Amino acid sequence: MKTAKRLQDFDAYLGTTMNMILTQMKKEGKDVINLGLGDPDVFPTEEMRKTLADACMHEESHHYPSFYDPMPLKEAIANWYQRRYEVICDPKSEVLPLLGAADGLFHIHTCLLDVGDTALIPDPCYPAYMASTKIAGGVIETVPLTNENGFLPDLDAIDPEVAKRAKMIWINYPNNPTAAHAPEEFYIKLIDWARKFDIAVISDNPYSEICFDGYRAPSFLKFDGAKEIGVELNSMSKAYNCCGWRIGMMLGNADIIAGMNKIKSHSDRGLFYPIQKAATEALNGSDAFMEERNRMFKERRDVVVNALKKMGIDVKMPKATFYVWAAVPEEVTDSKAWCMKVLNEIAVWMIPGSMYGKYGEGYFRIALTHPAERLAEAMDRLERYLA
Ligand SMILES: Cc1ncc(COP(=O)(O)O)c(C=O)c1O
Repeated sequence: MKTAKRLQDFDAYLGTTMNMILTQMKKEGKDVINLGLGDPDVFPTEEMRKTLADACMHEESHHYPSFYDPMPLKEAIANWYQRRYEVICDPKSEVLPLLGAADGLFHIHTCLLDVGDTALIPDPCYPAYMASTKIAGGVIETVPLTNENGFLPDLDAIDPEVAKRAKMIWINYPNNPTAAHAPEEFYIKLIDWARKFDIAVISDNPYSEICFDGYRAPSFLKFDGAKEIGVELNSMSKAYNCCGWRIGMMLGNADIIAGMNKIKSHSDRGLFYPIQKAATEALNGSDAFMEERNRMFKERRDVVVNALKKMGIDVKMPKATFYVWAAVPEEVTDSKAWCMKVLNEIAVWMIPGSMYGKYGEGYFRIALTHPAERLAEAMDRLERYLA
């Protein structure tokens, strides 16, 4: 059977292949520590689980989601954005619930790009931006994120001819994989620039609630003019410890939301009703649990970053996300080969920076998704390996 040529334009997600390799190693009795996993060892609050379970037990909960009133969840999302980010969105026309942010970030390209249109995509980045641009028939122009620029796009360095052709630009702060965050001035400049070139801004903000040291990530939509030119994706996956529930959201520009609604009316039937119900209650309820959760991630961050520094590795202390982005040792020229070697020698898996794009080469990413003691064990193994 021949599949479409466009499938040859991108690789399958390395994470899936690696999970199979790691599972096999574990079966062979190896004590593998997987520092690649972006799905932390945390779980939704008891209230969230109970609301979900109760709603599941209700006989009337199991129809196509489109039979239920979508407004309670849309209103809860709008209220969360107002409470948390001081952003006002009309729940009817400016809010769209999603099957995870991944759902929105896949379809947004079909919504904004005709075949041959240009998308500006940061490099390194979450790999799905690139893959789904290609699937939509778009053309990628990469925007390098470098250490020198604090892993922010240098808008002045984008060729004006390329900017004129571009239909959309991705931003993602707090950032995966670099764990960088963006200062407010960046958003203000970006909105000005995007208006000048008539480019839609897509802000991907699923790590907004994982912040440390007094930092609180803003929403891109908080800045003047943002809603005229863009949308923001957010997600309950990391914020509310429920990656498996598949609940995300898009807010902002009403024309983009209408386009997305049209596409999604064909691609899915919305969120399983019990998930909608539990998500609505969670968003309307207390988020006090986040403080303790973030304190735990901070402790883990300190263990890993301090250990890496002790090994002489070039790494910054991130203020957000549960990732640590660090430079490979100086003599290493191929991050993927090095990470595979580390895996084979000491059974610790870290993601090579090159998996996130050309400009990710020279780095590796560690996810803080294990208890501090287990992370310390991984760092001990690495220290001995590098000695
Ligand atoms: C930058 C980024 N965007 C989007 C997603 C997808 O999140 P969701 O679980 O809401 O689909 C992830 C997941 O890891 C991510 O890192």
